[in-house]
Parts: sequence; C-alpha cells; structure tokens
Amino acid sequence: MILEAQNLTRRFAAGSYGLAGLNLQLSADAFILISGHNGSGKSLLLRHLVGLEKPDAGRITLDGRPLETCLPELRRRLALVFQEPEHQILGVTVAEDLAYGPRCSRRKPAEYQTDVAAALQACGLGGMEQHLTSALSGGEKRRLALASTLVAKPELLLLDEPFNDLDWQGASDLLHILLKLRRQGTGILIVTHDLEKCLAHADRLLVLDAGRVIRDGTPAELWDELPALGLRRLPGGSEQMPAMTWLKP
Ligand SMILES: Nc1ncnc2c1ncn2[C@@H]1O[C@H](COP(=O)(O)OP(=O)(O)OP(=O)(O)O)[C@@H](O)[C@H]1O
Ligand SMILES: [Mg+2]
Repeated sequence: MILEAQNLTRRFAAGSYGLAGLNLQLSADAFILISGHNGSGKSLLLRHLVGLEKPDAGRITLDGRPLETCLPELRRRLALVFQEPEHQILGVTVAEDLAYGPRCSRRKPAEYQTDVAAALQACGLGGMEQHLTSALSGGEKRRLALASTLVAKPELLLLDEPFNDLDWQGASDLLHILLKLRRQGTGILIVTHDLEKCLAHADRLLVLDAGRVIRDGTPAELWDELPALGLRRLPGGSEQMPAMTWLKP
C-alpha cells in the first residue's frame, strides 16, 4: 500500500494554516514515527489521511487513486487510534464496543467472533468482555481503542500519541503488541513526542513543523539534529539509539 499526500493544505477561518503544503509518502511495510512541536499539524494530518477531514488544496492518493474515490476501501485497509481513546469507545461494555465496527459493516456475529477474540487477546483484554468501558483504567481504554481497530485487520495502523497516560509496564505492553503486529506484516505509524520510548524500533522518522514535513530520514540520519529540532534524546551519539525504548526485556 502506498499512501501519498501532495501539497496538502488546510486553512482555518482566522487565516492560519494547519497544514501548509505538506508532502509525504507512506507504505505499510515499516515502523514509522512522526514527531514535532505541539500544534505542528500531526493529529490534523492523521485525520486527513483517514478521510475524516478534507484539505483546502492538495490531494491524498491510495495506490495512485484519489482518496475520495476509495474511502470504503481505505477504511478497511487503514485504521486510526485517536489521541483521546474516549473519542472512539462507543460501546457500554468491552464486547459491545468491539462488535460496533463489524456491525456497522453488516457482518454477522459468527463472521467476526474470531477476529474480536484475536483482537482482545492481542491487546491483553481477554476475559474482560463484560467490563463496563466507563470503568476501565486509562491504559485499558488505550488498549481497547487499539483492539477495536484491530478487529478489521488493517494493513496500516496509525496511532496518535499512544503512550499518553501509560506507565512503564503499559508502554512496554503496547510496544510488544505493536512490534508483534509489525512482525506479522502490519505497517505501524506512530505520532509521538515520546521518542525515548520507541525510537529504537523505528525504520523512519518524519518531523513536522508548521504543517509541513521538515525532516524525513532514518533515526540514525536525524540523530544529531534532534535537539535542535526540539526533540528530546539521550546525550551522546547514535550508539545510544538502542536505549531509546521503554520495552521491557
Ligand atoms: N477545526 C479546527 N479549527 C481551527 N484550528 C484547528 C482545527 N483543527 C486543528 N486546528 C489547529 O491546527 C493546528 C494543528 O493542530 P494539531 O492538533 O494537528 O496539532 P498536533 O501537532 O497534533 O499537536 P499536539 O502535539 O499538541 O497534539 C493547531 O494550531 C490547531 O489549533
Ligand atoms: Mg495531536
């Protein structure tokens, strides 16, 4: 899968630009990180990539076809885990929440039960089917939001600040899940400020500023520049990179 944004531009009423001629190309065969200052356009970019918002200029293509001509296909192949998990938890119980997506796609329970069970298991929520979603902890809500996107078995998974509210164990559990998905062939794209929690695993890092991609390279290529770009890293050379992870052994 090739998802491409060309000259992506989004203006707001006051004349400010959320996205200002952004270009990028993504494929589903890598572990990619996007970082950048607060307000640089990261979440807005993700919402455009999944077709939730429309640009004022520029375009997004999926395998060369304009996004607006293939939205149902895009929604099957791509999934977004929102910055705030509450924004995508719709069921009263865990089981209801996971059934929501397949029911909207008019799938019968017999067809999606296996996928729901696999998503629950993958996200460490096995046995919690009848728990009230409103009573879940912050970390459990994050894992439920992830599980609900996995039911559709997306090729490329986009996650917006997935480490928010997670302690060391929670972040490590999430990394285990994401790295396993990557090994099984799912593309992973994480928007995050927390480079120290995951940079060690990334194939590629993009840096956004004022609605544009200002850097795109391997973590090793960008390592020396990170502090100047406002991105925190361990002191020293790129030999420190393997320590930029919260994955517990
Ligand atoms: N609907 C909207 N109306 C007006 N401004 C908006 C709207 N949506 C986004 N913006 C603005 O666009 C800019 C980019 O927002 P965005 O949420 O993408 O930032 P971000 O990089 O995700 O920041 P953070 O790291 O804080 O999550 C911000 O200045 C935001 O206020
Ligand atoms: Mg954001």
